[in-house]
Amino acid sequence: MKLHQRLPGAVAATIAIALTACNGDHSPSAAVQAHAANSSPASPELAAVYQRSCQTCHARGTSDAPLTGHGDAWQPRLDKGMDTLVDNVVSGMGGMPPYGLCMDCNAEQFRQLIRFMATPAEAEGQ
Ligand code: HEC
Repeated sequence: MKLHQRLPGAVAATIAIALTACNGDHSPSAAVQAHAANSSPASPELAAVYQRSCQTCHARGTSDAPLTGHGDAWQPRLDKGMDTLVDNVVSGMGGMPPYGLCMDCNAEQFRQLIRFMATPAEAEGQ
């Protein structure tokens, strides 16, 4: 009990994800999971949008959403082109509701959010 309480949030989240996720070779590494659990866009405005909308799904390995900072998961999606990605967020896709739950986001904000989430964790030195 005591030990569990002392685990930092990121480590606890990583353990929880490791126990539930089973994505074969493409599972995000512990470093990527910690990055996803702890990072936000640098701009305060964008960070606020990210935290209230996208983070719920994209920072946790418990949904099918590509994890923030997981380059391997994002590359095939980036290959579709930014316009397609923005369109898919706006119309919703699979487990993602329309607008990724940000009803007042514009296309430029979606592009910035996608760039942030798709940037590999390693590229940010984490
Ligand atoms: C309720 C959960 C949820 C929320 C909230 C959410 N997403 Fe997603 N997102 C998903 C899931 C699940 C997928 C994978 C869908 C699939 O591949 O079928 C996804 C996929 C994506 C993709 C890839 C689309 C493609 O064409 O491959 C982008 C881009 C994306 N999300 C951006 C966002 C942005 C930006 C936000 C916040 C404004 C957001 N998401 C909020 C669950 C969510």
